[in-house]
Amino acid sequence: MAYDKHGVLEMTDVKYDADRPKAQNPIKINDVTFRDGHQSLFATRGRTEDMIPVAEMMDEVGFNAVETWGGASFDAMHRYLAEDPWERLRTLKKYMKKTPFSMLLRGQNVVGYRNYADDVVSAFVQRAIDHGMDIFRCFDALNDYRNFETAAKVIKDNGKHFQGVVCYTLTEPRLGGDVYNMEYYIQKVKELIEFGVDSICIKDMAGLIAPYDIYNMVREIKAITDIPINLHTHFTSGMGDLSIFKAIEAGVDIVDTCVSPYAYRTSHPAVEPIIMSLLGTNRDSGLDIKKVTAIADEMEKYIPKYRHLDNNPKYSIIDINVLLHQTPGGMLSNLVNQLKAMNSLDKLDDVFRLLPKVRKDLGSIPLVTPTSQIVGVQTVNNVLFDEEEGQYAQITKEVKDLCYGLYGKTTREINPEVRKKALKGYERGEEPIDVRPGSILEPELDEVKEKFKDLTADADDEILCALYPVTGKRFLKWKYGLAEVPPEAKPKTMEQVKKEQELIKKALSGELSMAKKGNAREIEVKVDGEVFTVEINDPLQQNNAPQFRPRKKKEAAKELDLSGKLLAPIPGMIVEYKKAVGDKVKPGDTLVVLEAMKMMNNLEASVAGEVKEIKFDSGDSVSKGDLLMVIEPEK
Ligand code: CO
Repeated sequence: MAYDKHGVLEMTDVKYDADRPKAQNPIKINDVTFRDGHQSLFATRGRTEDMIPVAEMMDEVGFNAVETWGGASFDAMHRYLAEDPWERLRTLKKYMKKTPFSMLLRGQNVVGYRNYADDVVSAFVQRAIDHGMDIFRCFDALNDYRNFETAAKVIKDNGKHFQGVVCYTLTEPRLGGDVYNMEYYIQKVKELIEFGVDSICIKDMAGLIAPYDIYNMVREIKAITDIPINLHTHFTSGMGDLSIFKAIEAGVDIVDTCVSPYAYRTSHPAVEPIIMSLLGTNRDSGLDIKKVTAIADEMEKYIPKYRHLDNNPKYSIIDINVLLHQTPGGMLSNLVNQLKAMNSLDKLDDVFRLLPKVRKDLGSIPLVTPTSQIVGVQTVNNVLFDEEEGQYAQITKEVKDLCYGLYGKTTREINPEVRKKALKGYERGEEPIDVRPGSILEPELDEVKEKFKDLTADADDEILCALYPVTGKRFLKWKYGLAEVPPEAKPKTMEQVKKEQELIKKALSGELSMAKKGNAREIEVKVDGEVFTVEINDPLQQNNAPQFRPRKKKEAAKELDLSGKLLAPIPGMIVEYKKAVGDKVKPGDTLVVLEAMKMMNNLEASVAGEVKEIKFDSGDSVSKGDLLMVIEPEK
C-alpha cells in the first residue's frame, strides 16, 4: 500500500471498520462533549445522569482523552444543579476506566474567577488527581505563565500530564497588528517549552482562528519543538472544521471535537466528519464511526431536556460577528442580557465601539474567562455611568485587582491614568506589583476550614467553600439536608419534558387557557381540566443574571440616597455586609459586597451616619431596588 502525494491511500476498499490499515501518523482526538460541549451550548447545565448512559460507550471509542471537568462545570454544578462537582468525577471514572480524563484548569484562578492563594490551588489539584484526573490543561487569561507554577508542581509531582495553553486572541484580523501576531504566539510557545510542559494547546475559545493562520502557526511550532500540539477551537464563526483540517495538514497532533448532538454553533466541530474525511489517509484517526454514531443516537434521547437553554434566536448556526468585534460568544450574550435588563439594548453599538478602547486601556489583554468578563462589565459600566468618555466613574473590584497586578502581567502597559484612578484608595496599596501574584497572597485554607467547620465533612467540601464561599455554603446545606433543594435546581425528567412538549403542541393548536399567577415567574396552564404550573424562567439563573437598573447618569456610582437607604442597584447575590448594625460609616466606606455577573460590586456609603438596619443575609439573592441597609445620616 502506498500514499499518493496528498497522503491518501491508493486503494479502493477502505472500510469503515476500525480494523482498517493504521495510518502513518494518526490524528489523536479529544472528546470535549462532557465539558465544553454543554458549556458552549447549554450554559454548562449538563447533568451526570445524562452522561452515564453513554459513558461506557465513550470509553470504547479510543479517544486520546475525554474532557470531563473544569472550566465552568465546577461552578455550574454546585450553583445551579445541586450536584457535587467531585462526585461527577468519581461517578464517571467508574464507567470510563480506559480513556484518560482531562480537565480545564484556569491556573491560579483554579475553577473560579480570581487568583487564589497557593494553598487553595495545590489542595484543589491534589484532590482532582486523587479523584482520577489525568491531564491538566492549564491556562492563564493573561498568558502569564508564572500563574502555572503552583499547579504545575503538584501535577508533575504526581506524574500527571501538564498541558500548557497559549490563549488565542486577536487585535487585528488575521494576526495583523503589533500585539497578537505570529511573533507573539511563537514567543509564548517558547516560554511554554522552557516551562517544561508535556504538551501545548492553542486554545481558541472564541473560534477566531483562520485556517491558514493555524496552518502557518503549527508549521512554525513544529520547526522548533517535538512537544505534541493540541488545537482547541470553536465552530462559532464557521471556520472550525476548516481550521482543524489545515492544522492536521500542518502536522498538529491532537484536536478537540464533540459528538454531533453537542457540536457546532458556539461549540466545537463534530468528530464524525473528521473521522470520515481522514479515512484511508496518513492522518486517519482509526476511530470506529459506528461506535460514535451509536453514542450520538443515544444522546439524542436526552437533548430535549436541555433545549430550553439554547436560546439562539437565529436560524443560522454560525456568527461571523465574533470576528468583526472579537467578542467571545459567552461574553456577547452576557453583554446583551445586561443591557436588556437595563432597557438599554440600544446602547449595544456604544458597547461594541468602546470595547476595544477599554481593552486597550486595560493592557490589550486576551478575552477569555475571566478577562472577557472583566473587560465586558467595565465597558458596560463606562457606557452607562460615564458622563464623558474615559471617565471610569464606576470601576469594578476586578479591574482594580487587574491594575494592581493581581492577575499577572498584562500584554501591554495599562493606561497610567486609568491605573491611577483604579488604585486610588485600593486596599492593598496604590503602587502596583510586578511579582507572581500568588506570591503575595496569604494562605486561605485554614481560615476557610475554621469558618465552615460546622458544614464541611472533608477536604473536598472545604475546597468548594474556599473557591465559592457563598454558593458553596448554600450547596453544602442542600447536600447535607439542612436546606431543601429548590425545584429549579432539581433535574428535569423525560416525563416532564414530554408533558411540556404536549403543552406546546396544544398551545399551538389553541387548546390552552392561561391564567397568570401572582408570581410573575410562573403561569398556570389548564390542559383537559388538569392544571399545570409552568415556570417561564429559571429564578436561580435569573438571580445571577447580569442586570443593571437603568438610571440617570447623574446618579453615578453611589447607591445611597440622602435619606440613608441603600438600594440594590443591580440584581445579584449578597456576598457580605461589611458593616453591622450600630457601626458608624463615612462616605466611601464599603457597606455591602454584591455579586452580579461573577463580578464583585462594592456598594459604598455616600453619607456619614450610623447603620440602623440590615435587611438581608450573606447568600441571599436580591432584586434590583431591594432595600439592603438603612443608615441614619449624621445631622
Ligand atoms: Co473552549
